[in-house]
Amino acid sequence: MLPVTAKNLTKKYKDTVAVNGIDFAVQEKECFGFIGPNGAGKTTTMKMIYCFVPRTGGELLVLDKDPSIHPEMVKADLGVVPQDNNLDEDLNVFTNLTMYANYFNIPHGIARVKAKELLAFVQLTEKEKVKITELSSGMKRRLMIARGLINDPKLLILDEPTVGLDPQARHLIWDRLRELKSQNVSMIITTHYMDEATELCDRVAVMDKGKIMVVGKPKDLIREHIGEEVVEVMLLDTTADKLKKDAAGFLVTLEETSQKCYLYCQDCRPLLSHLTDKGYKHILRRPATLEDVFLKLTGRDLVD
Ligand SMILES: Nc1ncnc2c1ncn2[C@@H]1O[C@H](COP(=O)(O)OP(=O)(O)OP(=O)(O)O)[C@@H](O)[C@H]1O
Ligand SMILES: [Mg+2]
Repeated sequence: MLPVTAKNLTKKYKDTVAVNGIDFAVQEKECFGFIGPNGAGKTTTMKMIYCFVPRTGGELLVLDKDPSIHPEMVKADLGVVPQDNNLDEDLNVFTNLTMYANYFNIPHGIARVKAKELLAFVQLTEKEKVKITELSSGMKRRLMIARGLINDPKLLILDEPTVGLDPQARHLIWDRLRELKSQNVSMIITTHYMDEATELCDRVAVMDKGKIMVVGKPKDLIREHIGEEVVEVMLLDTTADKLKKDAAGFLVTLEETSQKCYLYCQDCRPLLSHLTDKGYKHILRRPATLEDVFLKLTGRDLVD
């Protein structure tokens, strides 16, 4: 059973085509990521998967069921962490979990044990009696993740799970998600942190304007679209045209923005020493990353 298969999946909101005929399949035990600029259609895709909005076209199966026909059956096996926190502010931390367990008909005694375990899992045990309004935003996010796990989901859907978390809390969540993965939980995640996508995802789909542009393992995408290394040259005391001429013998791909040029190569050392010899000063050589792939495919400058 594949966690998700989508064919020509489409969502229109009146005149806006938020998701424009995408195809993808999430494999069992896989962590599948969606990355893409604001408004690309990531959250809309997630919302169709977790039965929050109906699709307007195409086919979608979640855990072998059609969410538009069997939403209750689908939801029973999903854990969902939406992009926006929707904790119940009238309840304290602990009761947020036990009340949520009610939706899944989990007996109260079991729910209490599970809630304790999950609060320990996200390191919020000492806050169990605290009001939601008294939590920091990072703590709310951790509680949302704990809540998403209350029903032991087969598929976990995480829309920007670590937004607003400090580095320690992010690493805690990464450790926890890897732990869940080792217990065979499949996951779909969206994130704007490319290091997070590289760290956690077996495969990522790069989305833009409602379409999937490419899908692949982060390492493969980096190799295919960028190469091994990048040289960044600040355009302070040179121009892109001069740089193009000076780098011409090195068979590199060059991308330019208003302030910087990016040169992609397999081994940038010869280029770097050549440019250094030519007097270039504001220059940096580094490994290529998923962020380079993202920016190359979706544009290095903000369009809207
Ligand atoms: N309820 C809605 N009604 C109308 N349009 C919507 C609605 N929700 C989303 N959209 C539109 O659909 C498009 C995709 O939005 P979506 O929230 O899926 O993007 P996203 O990739 O998750 O972006 P972000 O990175 O900012 O979270 C956008 O143009 C957005 O304005
Ligand atoms: Mg979103």
